[in-house]
Amino acid sequence: MDDGCRWRLPAYLLVASTFFVQGWVVWTDAGSDVHDTPLSAQALEGQAIFRANNCQSCHQLFGAGGYLGPDLTNATRRVPAARYATFLDEGAGAMPAFHLDGPQRDAVWAYLSALDSAGLGVPTLPEGETGPLYADALARWQASGEALPAEVATGAAVATARGCGGCHLSFAPGGAGGAPDLGDAVSRLGAGGVRQVVAGGRGGMPNLVLSDPELDSVVALLTWVDAHQDTLRPSRDLSPLDAPWFAYRDTK
Ligand code: HEC
Ligand code: HEC
Repeated sequence: MDDGCRWRLPAYLLVASTFFVQGWVVWTDAGSDVHDTPLSAQALEGQAIFRANNCQSCHQLFGAGGYLGPDLTNATRRVPAARYATFLDEGAGAMPAFHLDGPQRDAVWAYLSALDSAGLGVPTLPEGETGPLYADALARWQASGEALPAEVATGAAVATARGCGGCHLSFAPGGAGGAPDLGDAVSRLGAGGVRQVVAGGRGGMPNLVLSDPELDSVVALLTWVDAHQDTLRPSRDLSPLDAPWFAYRDTK
């Protein structure tokens, strides 16, 4: 048995128990206003539809759930209704089409609106990732005596100057507006796909109008980070005691 196999089961159990505890925290969280205000009949129906369609296998609520799609706790304040309908009818990227009828779609929206009214999610960053996008990880890399390719350093400077880290978090999903983790974006979209999104914008991702050299260096940064993510990605403490990994503050 190699080391990977030996740790796979305990790691799986830890992750599974973490999600269990997170789920428990979400549904019993006595401190949040959602549970002080009973859900309307329509929102309760939406909750049942949400669960029956396993939306939570890809989406988080209050930071708990799957990580393929963005956290939906505050989706209703950022996703326009027409875009929401398109997402469900046609799917988007990794999200399949669901073909819910109008009243079912409205019920899910009513449920998500009730969650949204509980407060604004502020994702917690991995330990030591508090600077601009990847700045801390690159500083750790250099502190260990490793050279940083010039183009990557330039890309990091462009990412800082253009405020990519204002929305995207270093090695964590759930940035502003649902901005995804870019640590594996090149693996998922290919360098060409990443270039296309950054150059043209997409959904909540604005077209930041980068010059060609800026675009080249940002793509070089993301390609390099992706290739070195095993070293760069901070190990995250999966202790259930730290769950949920999102802090919610009241913004009503
Ligand atoms: C197989 C995984 C998967 C499932 C299941 C899934 N989604 Fe998604 N969803 C995604 C992904 C990935 C995105 C981001 C797509 C993009 O931005 O291109 C997304 C985006 C969304 C968005 C837009 C969020 C935003 O901030 O822009 C909403 C709303 C949404 N999904 C609702 C739902 C609902 C409701 C269900 C269940 C009926 C559901 N999703 C099921 C993967 C999934
Ligand atoms: C105003 C917030 C915001 C800023 C600033 C921003 N992004 Fe984004 N970005 C997003 C959102 C939201 C998405 C998801 C778009 C969608 O769902 O279609 C995204 C998507 C992306 C994607 C596609 C990722 C994927 O997994 O599909 C890449 C690549 C990307 N951004 C790179 C950048 C870079 C590089 C910068 C800085 C030059 C930047 N972004 C600045 C909000 C932002």
